[in-house]
Amino acid sequence: MLKPDSVEKGNIGAILEKVTASGFRIVAMKLTQLTKADAEAFYAVHNERPFFGELVNYMTRGPIVAAILEKENAVQDFRTLIGATNPAEAAEGTIRNMFAESISQNAVHGSDSDENAGIEGAFHFSEREMF
Ligand code: CMP
Repeated sequence: MLKPDSVEKGNIGAILEKVTASGFRIVAMKLTQLTKADAEAFYAVHNERPFFGELVNYMTRGPIVAAILEKENAVQDFRTLIGATNPAEAAEGTIRNMFAESISQNAVHGSDSDENAGIEGAFHFSEREMF
């Protein structure tokens, strides 16, 4: 996902350029806005964390870009491309280093495993929206 801060700042094109230039194929993509229930479900694994309320408010405050990306070793390579959760710790040239505000408003989300990539892809897209 490109999170609301990325959309608000007009960074969709610049981020997608880095993603495709890094060898990812876009299999599905849409501009959409999460409801509170959507964000709570998507981030259910974090619901005991102190930042959960802040995370849900942030993720629902405006549109996001949801996408499914395909590449050999996609999960690990995308996590390398986006950099550490905290942009202050994200390596030079990574998407979070270049575009993120803070640990909470960190520009992009990437799945942390193939299994979760499947679950998160199905959360956003129906079969006929995947190519
Ligand atoms: P993401 O990779 O989408 O997964 C969980 C999100 O929670 C994370 O990016 C951040 O947006 C947010 N997050 C993680 N750690 C913190 C934190 N310490 N304080 C606030 N938000 C956080």
